[in-house]
Amino acid sequence: MDRATAAAAEVARINTFFPLLPRLGLRWAAKRPWEDMTVAVNAHLTTLTAALVRELALGGGTWVVCAANEATTDPGVVELLRQQGIQVETGRDGNDRYRATLDAHPELIADVGYELISTLLEQRPKQASEVRAAVEITRTGINRLRQHPAPFGVMNINDGELKYNVENRHGVGEGLWPCVTNITGMHLSGRRVLVIGYGPTGQGVATYARAFGASVEVVEIDPIRQLVAQYDGFPTPDLAAGLERADIAVTVTGKKGALPLSALEAVDSDLVLVNAGHGRDEIDVTGLRGSAVEGDELGPHCVRFRLRAKGPWLSVLGDGNPLNIVLNAGSPEPVLLHFALLGRTLEHLAGERPSPGEHRVPRSLEAEVATAAIKVRR
Ligand SMILES: NC(=O)c1ccc[n+]([C@@H]2O[C@H](COP(=O)([O-])OP(=O)(O)OC[C@H]3O[C@@H](n4cnc5c(N)ncnc54)[C@H](O)[C@@H]3O)[C@@H](O)[C@H]2O)c1
Repeated sequence: MDRATAAAAEVARINTFFPLLPRLGLRWAAKRPWEDMTVAVNAHLTTLTAALVRELALGGGTWVVCAANEATTDPGVVELLRQQGIQVETGRDGNDRYRATLDAHPELIADVGYELISTLLEQRPKQASEVRAAVEITRTGINRLRQHPAPFGVMNINDGELKYNVENRHGVGEGLWPCVTNITGMHLSGRRVLVIGYGPTGQGVATYARAFGASVEVVEIDPIRQLVAQYDGFPTPDLAAGLERADIAVTVTGKKGALPLSALEAVDSDLVLVNAGHGRDEIDVTGLRGSAVEGDELGPHCVRFRLRAKGPWLSVLGDGNPLNIVLNAGSPEPVLLHFALLGRTLEHLAGERPSPGEHRVPRSLEAEVATAAIKVRR
């Protein structure tokens, strides 16, 4: 089976057991909300994104899809989307991908990490007036939006109730730990896990690690969330003390350098390093690689380094990229749920021009998607 056919088969299987997106596809095929419009989607090009774009394209218009991260790009998905007549921008250089996507002059943008919108604002400011509205789905992207506001309305899906409660809390943690086990062979029972960042995603990662039998501690810089972690039953040491005890450390902060080289240099025993947040720079993998005195590749997605002769091995999974996304792991339902909301939001925006600034996704849209999900889960 070629890669595109394999990707198509996976999309079909996903849709069989949770047919939320195909239901929406029927609606979009009938309504054609994006007729004569160009819509750009910046996303991790997994089979779940292929499942979404396939249905969106039924609603008319021109769709341009951009790879959010080369490491999370499934080549079969790229081929499949291109076979479906969709322009797909890939390549090592993110800036090139974003510029090529913007060359299509989108009126609507669905972004991840505010990358496409930032490129537009910084490099093509005049083109911003062509954009009717945008959607951002990540915490990292919303933080960037607040620092660099756009001259058009941006719908914040991340802070709706559905993404927070279902994908961040349940999707990531449930998907992440089997990836760690598959790559390393480690059983979580009795292992010591350090979760760095206790937002909704970190909460899920910590909760599922405990459910798999690990002993979990949390590092969190926000005192409110640190206290919540304590009431949830997790000790909250500082980073150095937590790393001293950990077998596995996971970053879930969305912040560059949350696990810096200086902290890794102080580690005394072997440690597995995992990122479940955004991008590749939460763990300083570049610094680790540059300062290593020894290193070897143990297998796919697993490289280990030593920072001093005979020192502990620091094993990096997925090269520091969000591991569950790299391996497209876990139940697809939580992601499909917020993809359904993303699609309904894009439909809503096709008939609107919201005022500039951040807008919370309307609760009525979330309730509608939740109702549809309840029906397909029966
Ligand atoms: N892997 C995935 O599939 C997936 C899915 C959803 C979200 N995410 C990403 O996960 C990250 C976290 O998402 P969230 O919704 O929980 O975000 P959030 O911003 O609500 O939580 C992040 C937490 O990390 C804490 N933090 C920041 N820097 C820290 C540091 N240096 N040390 C310790 N704690 C620190 C913050 O105080 C905050 O409580 C984001 O980047 C988001 O984009 C990934």
